[in-house]
Amino acid sequence: MNSRNDFLKPGSDKETFVNSPYVTEMRKITNELYRHGWDERNGGNVSYRLTEAEVSAYSDVHQVLRNIPIDFDASALKGTYFLVTGTGRYFKNVIDFPERDTGLVKISDDGHSADLLWGFNDGGQPTSEFPSHLMTHIQRLKQDPDQRVVMHCHPTNLIAMSFTVPQDEKTFSRILWKMQAESIVVFPEGLGILPYMTPGTNEIGQATADKMADFRVVMWPHHGIFAAGDSIDETYGLIETVEKAAQIYTTIQAQGGECLAEISDADLVKLAKRFDLTPNPEFMDGKSMIRETVK
Ligand code: 13P
Ligand code: ZN
Repeated sequence: MNSRNDFLKPGSDKETFVNSPYVTEMRKITNELYRHGWDERNGGNVSYRLTEAEVSAYSDVHQVLRNIPIDFDASALKGTYFLVTGTGRYFKNVIDFPERDTGLVKISDDGHSADLLWGFNDGGQPTSEFPSHLMTHIQRLKQDPDQRVVMHCHPTNLIAMSFTVPQDEKTFSRILWKMQAESIVVFPEGLGILPYMTPGTNEIGQATADKMADFRVVMWPHHGIFAAGDSIDETYGLIETVEKAAQIYTTIQAQGGECLAEISDADLVKLAKRFDLTPNPEFMDGKSMIRETVK
């Protein structure tokens, strides 16, 4: 993937950040999300935690370009670097304009601002969901020191289900688990669900982070999904798997909604045993898909 910025800075033996694997991953994944139809217009945002060692190798990330305020106390992340998508930026464009549509920031010591070190070169700002991202990183880092990525997007079938399926975590998780054998293996803890809330606020950020204590994937009803993970691939894979299950459910409904067969609760237990994982015990027994749907 070449860019107009594919060059070494004069007089420097270090590469510029735009050619880093991190920016390349960001370009590729935002394009994937766009091509799935999960990030219409400026929908969706991604943040990617990077370490000092990873960032310092590049020649053009050592000057503070400007300071960006943060409207809550993010000091738990002081000194942490994030490559993050910009607010209002169209994911279809990030692949061609990474230095405009993404930025590299470092959280200040007091946690109330971030230094911009690279990117947002037309004056842009981090995503309006940056509070939700940072609060989620803080929470997930408590569970998993390798936590790296937070990804938000608008997957069509899952959003549609938030209108037609009761918004409780057990009902949703069990339906998604039973749509394909892969689901319980990929998200054994199930799906967290918030009530509908206004996006871009500290309140939805705190509520999302609270859910992230128990889940890595959280649905925002009538809006989208938040996912967290150790890598871009893992986090994207979580969303893909949830949305594929939601797509199968939607297809079943389009075929009349009547299930004549299902992955049974006993099958879920066998899957958990085979893949050596502990599914959420609160979701392990309940209604059958067959009883729920046969008229
Ligand atoms: P941003 O353009 O600010 O990232 O917002 C997109 C979005 O999906 C809000 O929930
Ligand atoms: Zn959104």
